[in-house]
Amino acid sequence: MHLPSALCACAWLLRELHMDLQSALCALRSLLGGVSARALPGVLHTLRGDAFEDLFQCNEDAVLRNIAGELREALPAEAMLSSEHQAMQKMQQSFEPTVHVDSFLYEDTLIDQLCEEGRMSRHYCLSCGSQQTAPLGFISHSFSLVELKFLFQHALPDLSGKTLVDIGSRLGAVLFGGFLYSSAAQLIGVEMNAEFCELQGKIINKYHFNDRIQVLHADICTQASLLQDADVIVLNNVFEYFLDEDAQISAWTFINSCVCKMGALLVTVPALEESLGKLQTGIDLNHWVEEVQLDYNVYLGADTDSEALQNIHLYRVR
Ligand SMILES: C[S@@+](CC[C@H](N)C(=O)[O-])C[C@H]1O[C@@H](n2cnc3c(N)ncnc32)[C@H](O)[C@@H]1O
Repeated sequence: MHLPSALCACAWLLRELHMDLQSALCALRSLLGGVSARALPGVLHTLRGDAFEDLFQCNEDAVLRNIAGELREALPAEAMLSSEHQAMQKMQQSFEPTVHVDSFLYEDTLIDQLCEEGRMSRHYCLSCGSQQTAPLGFISHSFSLVELKFLFQHALPDLSGKTLVDIGSRLGAVLFGGFLYSSAAQLIGVEMNAEFCELQGKIINKYHFNDRIQVLHADICTQASLLQDADVIVLNNVFEYFLDEDAQISAWTFINSCVCKMGALLVTVPALEESLGKLQTGIDLNHWVEEVQLDYNVYLGADTDSEALQNIHLYRVR
């Protein structure tokens, strides 16, 4: 085998065959045995470098990265809008100095690059002028590309014929990821912020996503029938930073009363126990759902952050 075909074969093997580590290493060894002596040093060199990572990028990743680039252009660096008064206020009350870095818009490699260029920092100064620094808290309001791949390619079952509702769809990351990485029949976002709805609408039209994606500008508490009929409901850090405590309690109580179709799936970040543990909702979690155990031990490219993946939880309605 020559160099390009050997590398493509390695990438295909690792991506498509879903092997465990030992079998993958065995298969790789035997594959490398078939590489010509002239090509072998080049193959081994490339396997160790970034170019090999690029072979894992598929068309869908490229489309999502393109969308992220367009949204970065359209938004301020923190990807927050001045119309998000309540969210802004809540962040200012945060104890730890925190920056908003939207993981869908800014992948780790891009953050590293911006830090190197001095346009972003992962640290803040403890006493002005000194060398003492501490890590900044990062808050993301969207799933990253890696989290979306994990969600649609590993965590959720085949979604053919199913309807997914993303509560608080914001930039549309879940909807676009679901369009590209799953066969879901309908992907419906509900977002209370009008400007974000408009932004999602522009992307949906531009990329011709209209046949499977729809965005509703609404408070989720007005969408009973949508929730009753949904097969998958996504709640990614949805209320904590955006609603006061009473409104969070009302929203969770409403969702609990509507989402009762047996077998419907809930995807949440963080765990339901954590979100509800802070609130007096009276929801009996064990009666409502059972948790589906996920395998977080997956490789989805150099940006795979298994800690972040472990915040994603899946539940089935009883
Ligand atoms: C953390 S973002 C979730 C982003 C997106 N689902 C994702 O995973 O990439 C939460 C969004 O929920 C919206 N939101 C909060 N409460 C809501 C409500 N009651 N109804 C509709 N949207 C809501 C906020 O405006 C915010 O844009």
